[in-house]
Amino acid sequence: MAEEKLFIPLVLGTNRKERSSEAVARWVFTQMQGREEIESAFFDVRDFALPQDHYGTEIGHLFPEWKAAMTRADGLVIVSPEYNHGYPGILKSVLDLLLKEYIHKAVSFVGVSAGPWGGTRVIEAMLPMARELGLAVTFSDLNFPSASSKFDVDGNLLDTAYEKRAKGFLDELVWMATTLRWGREYVPSRFHQK
Ligand SMILES: Cc1cc2nc3c(=O)[nH]c(=O)nc-3n(C[C@H](O)[C@H](O)[C@H](O)COP(=O)(O)O)c2cc1C
Repeated sequence: MAEEKLFIPLVLGTNRKERSSEAVARWVFTQMQGREEIESAFFDVRDFALPQDHYGTEIGHLFPEWKAAMTRADGLVIVSPEYNHGYPGILKSVLDLLLKEYIHKAVSFVGVSAGPWGGTRVIEAMLPMARELGLAVTFSDLNFPSASSKFDVDGNLLDTAYEKRAKGFLDELVWMATTLRWGREYVPSRFHQK
């Protein structure tokens, strides 16, 4: 086990009004905060004032908090709704602000949908994108089907089965993030930032 806590930010991937993904993201974030191995930070794509006339890593410096977080990060949790079997454009725009900062770091996915599949299709859609970013995907996802009925008005999760699922999800993420941290430290690669 790494001595220093793993730093694993979470990003909430939609800016839609009345988004159910927010309750999901806040619940997952609470689970992360409950783990002694993890330090986290909550990022919301709503907070990124993206310019209309530029894109990509050339404007990454305009978002220093995000850049610093991912530079330091050992992993990332992405909470994404399923929109037409894909992920929101704004999530892609935020992720595309950086590149080398993601390399050889773990990523875990949380899928949120109105339909019965819990965002499995959006998670599958994110895999090629994550791979190109240099992120290493875990194989334990969290899926929230029928998302709007999963929480009460105060944001409390109604289905207690998720606690066990979240534990397995985070156990796997911690293993991957720990292993990759060791690799970044001890196994040379031309991709690692100094
Ligand atoms: C543009 C758009 C497309 C959507 N496409 C799907 C879909 O393909 N499958 C599905 O199960 N739900 C779909 N939904 C419903 C969302 O998954 C649902 O609202 C869920 O709560 C997660 O999104 P939210 O965080 O915006 O609420 C779609 C919603 C929007 C706004």
